[in-house]
Amino acid sequence: MATSAQPMWTTLAPAPEGFTRVHLGKRHLLSGPVVVLVPDLATLAAVVPDYAARMQGIVLTPGHGMQLAQISPVLWHVQLESAQVAVAAALAPGWLAAIAMADLATQKLFAVDAKAERTERQLHLTRHDYNDLTKRLLAQVHDLTAAKNELCELNQHLESRVKERTVDLAQANTHLSKTLDDLQTTQKELVRTAQLAGLGSLVAGIAHELNTPIGTALTAATALAHEACLIQTQFADGQLGRKALDQFLQSSTDISDLLERNLTRAAERIGHFKQVAVDGGSEERHHFELTDVISGTLSFLAPKLQGTPYHLALELDHCIEMDSYPGAISQVLSNLVGNALLHAFAERNTGTMRLRTALRDATTLELTFSDDGKGVAPDQLPHLFEPFYTTKFGQGGSGLGLYIVYTQVRDLMGGRVEVSSLEGQGTHFCVTVPLVAPRQRLR
Ligand SMILES: Nc1ncnc2c1ncn2[C@@H]1O[C@H](COP(=O)(O)OP(=O)(O)OP(=O)(O)O)[C@@H](O)[C@H]1O
Ligand SMILES: [Mg+2]
Repeated sequence: MATSAQPMWTTLAPAPEGFTRVHLGKRHLLSGPVVVLVPDLATLAAVVPDYAARMQGIVLTPGHGMQLAQISPVLWHVQLESAQVAVAAALAPGWLAAIAMADLATQKLFAVDAKAERTERQLHLTRHDYNDLTKRLLAQVHDLTAAKNELCELNQHLESRVKERTVDLAQANTHLSKTLDDLQTTQKELVRTAQLAGLGSLVAGIAHELNTPIGTALTAATALAHEACLIQTQFADGQLGRKALDQFLQSSTDISDLLERNLTRAAERIGHFKQVAVDGGSEERHHFELTDVISGTLSFLAPKLQGTPYHLALELDHCIEMDSYPGAISQVLSNLVGNALLHAFAERNTGTMRLRTALRDATTLELTFSDDGKGVAPDQLPHLFEPFYTTKFGQGGSGLGLYIVYTQVRDLMGGRVEVSSLEGQGTHFCVTVPLVAPRQRLR
């Protein structure tokens, strides 16, 4: 049995004590495997460390079926299998040496076998890995396909939702457009209705206003005609005395005055009314000095102020020249003064108006007009420029005075007008217009 107590040392080096040396040719030693038979690990560890690098086979005696790795880290590189195969085939005396001296072909065969086996194991592992990887890849492909399908489904769902929503939105849009159209129509109708209502009240107001002066004028004219008739008869009868003639002349002068005053009042009202429908073409555009226009307007307004406790203070820039509409400026001014007398100072014993003109900048006139009268309530203030807005309906107010101011300033002269007021403290109007009016009426 090769598992005798004597281990066999196969190198050319002197055998350590207690070992049997196998005599090998140097050639064999260098090319062949070195096989050691040892009774136990301790022996191996004690005798072979110096030769470990050269060893290609180790045979352990039966009963020591340990792994080479456990023997020593130094011996780790030694091929254990070749020797084991050989030993496993027949553990008979002399075999170990035979193995030790195995020819190169057998050694190669051992090596090839071992390599093939390793490769096969490796291949097995690789195949296993490959299969595993394939399985995982397939699983991933499956997952991906499922996710893709789900995504497709979701997309289709989304697309149909989007289509549905688009249709809904288009319908809502059409509905909204129609509602907007309806609203605009309703708004226009409302405005028209309001204008008609306003026009109705305006006509009523105008009729009322004209009724008194024209009625008075008519009575006066009738009286005059009657007196003239009497005088004519007296004259025809040759009974016209000087006294009667004087009386007739006196009363005809009085009646003429009355007629003139009342017809003037009526004409004023009619002129006022005409302004509402005025168009740009009927306005005259001129180059003028502002103070000239203001002086002219004030002389025209003077009779209204005469005999009243109200006073107009002026602060005028005398160097303002304009290329605009003097008639419109005059109209604006007389409406503002008229309003102050009619509304601001109503039932008041005193009142001061202030008119100021100045250049706001090189191209713009600023005209301010204020009074210290009763002012305007905050809830009324936003309506002041609206057509037909009046707090004196049936008492001479048609509610068009400030509307005319507004349209003349904005549409004809290309400017703007603002109002501010503190109830009980007066009202302030600020008109700004370009020195050169726009060539065309804006509205
Ligand atoms: N200076 C003012 N102080 C107080 N209230 C005013 C003044 N100016 C205008 N108002 C108010 O604004 C309203 C509208 O004025 P607007 O000149 O447009 O009409 P009106 O004077 O009533 O009538 P119209 O001028 O057509 O004869 C007036 O009814 C009045 O209530
Ligand atoms: Mg007025």
